[in-house]
Amino acid sequence: MSEEVTYADLKFQDSSQTENIQKFDKFEKEDPPVPSHVWRQGALALTLLCLLLLIGLGVFGAICMEKLNKLQNFKEELQRNLSLQLMQNTNSSQKIRNLSIKLEEIATKLCRELYTKNKEHKCKPCPEEWMWHDDKCYLLHAYQRQETWQKSDEICSGYNASLLTIKSKSVLEFIKSLMLSNFWLGLSPRKDNPRYRNLDTVILLHWFTRNTSVINDKMYCGWIHYTTVYYTKCTETKSIICEKLAQSVKIESILMSEVLDGRK
Ligand SMILES: *[C@@H]1O[C@H](CO)[C@@H](O)[C@H](O)[C@H]1NC(C)=O
Ligand SMILES: *[C@@H]1O[C@H](CO)[C@@H](O)[C@H](O)[C@H]1NC(C)=O
Ligand SMILES: *[C@@H]1O[C@H](CO)[C@@H](O)[C@H](O)[C@H]1NC(C)=O
Ligand SMILES: *[C@@H]1O[C@H](CO)[C@@H](O)[C@H](O)[C@H]1NC(C)=O
Ligand SMILES: *[C@@H]1O[C@H](CO)[C@@H](O)[C@H](O)[C@H]1NC(C)=O
Repeated sequence: MSEEVTYADLKFQDSSQTENIQKFDKFEKEDPPVPSHVWRQGALALTLLCLLLLIGLGVFGAICMEKLNKLQNFKEELQRNLSLQLMQNTNSSQKIRNLSIKLEEIATKLCRELYTKNKEHKCKPCPEEWMWHDDKCYLLHAYQRQETWQKSDEICSGYNASLLTIKSKSVLEFIKSLMLSNFWLGLSPRKDNPRYRNLDTVILLHWFTRNTSVINDKMYCGWIHYTTVYYTKCTETKSIICEKLAQSVKIESILMSEVLDGRK
């Protein structure tokens, strides 16, 4: 049965093939076809294709433009966000700065309390043996030792400090409490020898600014004797008290020494 079918198929194929060949032969024998019709169709197709391409390009361009616009908007938003964030950051860092200033004020207050109880408390923002008052540190240099004004000034410079100045009411009261007798003051040396004056009026005097380079034997320098200020030849000798700016109080220094004190 199957053999028969295959045979029939084959026969059929054969016949169709021969038919095709016959058609082909006939075609060849005819005159060549007029091209205009085919060309016109081709041109039309091409135009259509071009049009489609152009439309496609247009659509593509539109999509591109849209994408670009979106990108541009995104960029602008990002920039806006960024500048907003920067502003917030500045705000934050300002807040942190403000907070740390406040913290330091509190630490300083706390340290002052501790300092009144223990003059050598670890939180003291002055070197050992220096007294602390307001934002300055004071050192009575080798109490018995007396030097000329210029030498005294040099000794204080060696500590990165300068001779005692009294420029505020608070410092005035502090110095009065020290009962200083025969100490040089950091007043500007002068050519005349003015009368003594009460310590209370010393704030307004001309304090030395480390500018006068010529201090000769004939100049007069100020010194303190309890609550009176005198002038005398700068080449005489007096005791020395130096001052310099205190460092800032470290919060850790309060906490650390508290722990240590607790252990004792
Ligand atoms: C900008 O910030 C807003 C609000 O914080 C957020 O929703 C948005 O995603 C951000 N934009 C970009 C581009 O980061
Ligand atoms: C910055 O801080 C001030 C005051 O704390 C606040 O009024 C302002 O809105 C803040 N600005 C920003 C951008 O966060
Ligand atoms: C920080 O302190 C300054 C001055 O005290 C103030 O002008 C500013 O608003 C403060 N900033 C913040 C963020 O609190
Ligand atoms: C003085 O200050 C200088 C620089 O400011 C520093 O190098 C030096 O160690 C300081 N000397 C003393 C005794 O503090
Ligand atoms: C320092 O000295 C110069 C020149 O000797 C003078 O012009 C200047 O005013 C002085 N400065 C102070 C603060 O005394």
